[in-house]
Amino acid sequence: MNQDKYCVRDISLAETGRKNISFSIKEMPVLTKIKQRFEREKPLKGIRVGMALHITTETAYLVETLIAGGALVSICSCNPLSTQDNSAAYLAKIGVSVFGYKGESKGEYYEFIERVISFKPQITVDDGCDLVTMLHEKHPELLDGVWGGTEETTTGVRRLKAMHRAGKLRYPVIAVNDNFTKHMFDNYYGTGQSAIDGIIRASNVLIAGKKVVVVGYGDCGKGVAARARGLGAIVIVTEVSPKRALQAAMDGHLVMPLMEAAKIGDIFITVTGNKNVVPFEAIRLMKDSAILANAGHFDNEIDVAALERNATEKEEIRPYFKRYRINGKDVYLCGEGRLVNLVCGEGHPSSVLDLSFAGQALAVGYLVKNRGKLNVGVIKLPKEIDDEIARLKLESMGIRIDTLTKEQIAYLNNWKEGT
Ligand code: ADE
Repeated sequence: MNQDKYCVRDISLAETGRKNISFSIKEMPVLTKIKQRFEREKPLKGIRVGMALHITTETAYLVETLIAGGALVSICSCNPLSTQDNSAAYLAKIGVSVFGYKGESKGEYYEFIERVISFKPQITVDDGCDLVTMLHEKHPELLDGVWGGTEETTTGVRRLKAMHRAGKLRYPVIAVNDNFTKHMFDNYYGTGQSAIDGIIRASNVLIAGKKVVVVGYGDCGKGVAARARGLGAIVIVTEVSPKRALQAAMDGHLVMPLMEAAKIGDIFITVTGNKNVVPFEAIRLMKDSAILANAGHFDNEIDVAALERNATEKEEIRPYFKRYRINGKDVYLCGEGRLVNLVCGEGHPSSVLDLSFAGQALAVGYLVKNRGKLNVGVIKLPKEIDDEIARLKLESMGIRIDTLTKEQIAYLNNWKEGT
């Protein structure tokens, strides 16, 4: 498996990868438009882009888009269990230096990030901030050569902001997650559908009539709660933020502390971006046959270590669906507590990643165009770019909208006109 240019599970999977990508492309018209422009204009000519993203069909298409713009790409996964081996094989086959396979060890995970770093990226594209953290902590000598980076997810943005507050971040990073066209679609519609899909693929349980406990009511939690309700679940939300808890209640969900929800829930889905939000004390209270799943970026939301330590019996029931005997009852864990949508399913559908990855591609272009002009820190893409992504998506959907009249624009800029 170990080769110089790539390390993937099985290169012979490349053809199935290609077929999957050929279908995803149909669902990604915005990224396609950007790819066509990149092909013509070559805005990334000769630039080394180092990426740590979930290696999926959609990511493969983003890589192709950056290459179309003239970039040289090296990519590893940002999660040991999320790689789609056929997509990785496809990338290797077309000559990309790609490192990752589903089931890689933690050691390999970090080794693969090192491989990307050894490529001396001028731009980093990260999901979760492990690449940026390793670059800063282990290879500070390379930082002068980095022009900027992009970050895909809420957890990564939180880490980058903490890094910047600590005075450690050394280059500008665009929080692609903060694009309206990212978090309102990827986090809400994407996680909403794909987390439930992952649980269904892992367990094949019926959602209707179940009490689904959604831990965290951010954009992802709201999406998961909405989709669970749509399938007929009784949704219980647990929160620490009064504002979010209030919104969950107004949205018609039950709201209560986790330790109460633990006693009545059938399915628990964590979406907080925080650690140990389902501690072992809560798991001990759960009913027989409770199902646990995490849809947050890291595998630290559910206390899996305590499950492993305390279970009197453990058994892999189906792929990535494990039974733990705790306190005389069985609880079932999906995807080892890692991102259930990507481990047990195929992640978000291509159509939402069309928007997220349009943001990524344009952010990389923006960093190149504005090299040396951007402040170190966590920055946002200009609103016009976000609006343009939305406009292109609407256009691809055949949806037309209205425009403000001159009179309305003048009114909006006027403070004198009242009653
Ligand atoms: N994050 C969630 N779903 C994803 C996917 N399909 N590809 C890349 N990143 C993702």
